[in-house]
Amino acid sequence: MKALVLSGGAGTRLRPFSHSTPKQLIPVANRPVLEHVLDNIRALGIEDIGIVVGDRADVIADAIGDGARFNARITYLRQDRPLGLAHCVRIARGFLGDDDFVMYLGDNLLPDGVVDIADAFRASRPAAHVVVHKVPDPRAFGVAELDAHGRILQLVEKPQEPRSDLALIGVYFFTRAVHEAVAAIAPSARGELEITDAIQWLLANGRAVTASEYDGYWRDTGRIEDVLACNAHLLGGLRSHVAGEVDAASRVGAGVVIGSGARVVRSRIEGPAIIGPDTLVEDSHVGPNTAVGRGCVLRASRIADSIVLDGAAIDAVPGLSHSLIGKSATVTARSARPEPDTGLRLVLGDHSSVEIAA
Ligand code: DAU
Repeated sequence: MKALVLSGGAGTRLRPFSHSTPKQLIPVANRPVLEHVLDNIRALGIEDIGIVVGDRADVIADAIGDGARFNARITYLRQDRPLGLAHCVRIARGFLGDDDFVMYLGDNLLPDGVVDIADAFRASRPAAHVVVHKVPDPRAFGVAELDAHGRILQLVEKPQEPRSDLALIGVYFFTRAVHEAVAAIAPSARGELEITDAIQWLLANGRAVTASEYDGYWRDTGRIEDVLACNAHLLGGLRSHVAGEVDAASRVGAGVVIGSGARVVRSRIEGPAIIGPDTLVEDSHVGPNTAVGRGCVLRASRIADSIVLDGAAIDAVPGLSHSLIGKSATVTARSARPEPDTGLRLVLGDHSSVEIAA
């Protein structure tokens, strides 16, 4: 069995991060989403992995490499424009050959893994096997309608009026039958070749399509809130480990990882939290649910429920929460000076978002 990981696409909902860091490389618990994905694929015993990349191909290939780190072979497959998930299967035809494969969306996190589902697929090898999960608002997803016996009746991509609460998770299993389907369908109203349409085509042509309901933790990390929620979830499973230095005036709670070369001075680290290697935390209170990357400097600040990317600096900021601070960004407080210099000073990139207490 092979794997096809989809890591192209535009990532507009994660702007401004997706300008510099493709959404699949945003760190969750200090590891890029894509690395979590590759771990799950390796857990299925799959070694041959194709990754579909768009115009951020170089950044992704630099971060992930040739697969040696994962004991796998990685082939990068270039998609010139994000023309849809089924288009990715079309362009991967040469790589996939006639093998069965799992298609895994590179921005989906399933920390509990998909081993049982892969086993179910391998046992009966239907043309397609999809994974569904109950969600409160399915309109942002592909939606599956099942009959009383759990057989799929219909799949619809992002319906305005969903006929069930079962969203399609971004993990799909296929035999080579899917190639006929992706060749047969036409672009949807939004101009994409939809994988849901290809699976619907298999159903309409009498091919076996089955579904499993997933009861583990799942998030599509398409939005900042989801990235932060995943971060909190994954940090919750951390085992305490202190490699860096913590001075006697600091307090480090349970479920805290402190990377090598990091220094914690007169501070409190409340778990779950990670302080990345070579980061300095001084006179601050960090956590819970906070991941700070490599080489950051946090001074006289309070931060919780957040992600701080490598090289960022936060100085004298008393209350940051639910924040995603980009690479090498700086956040600084300063005392108000006399007119005309009493306002906030902001230097923000395109599509940035700032919330200021009124
Ligand atoms: O997360 C689950 C949902 O993922 C499913 O419920 C939907 O049925 C499915 O269409 C998909 O919806 P999204 O709107 O979340 O898809 P998104 O555009 O975010 O793309 C998913 C991944 O595939 C992401 O890593 C980018 C990549 N991609 C996407 C497109 C459209 C490509 O590599 N090429 C593409 O052409």
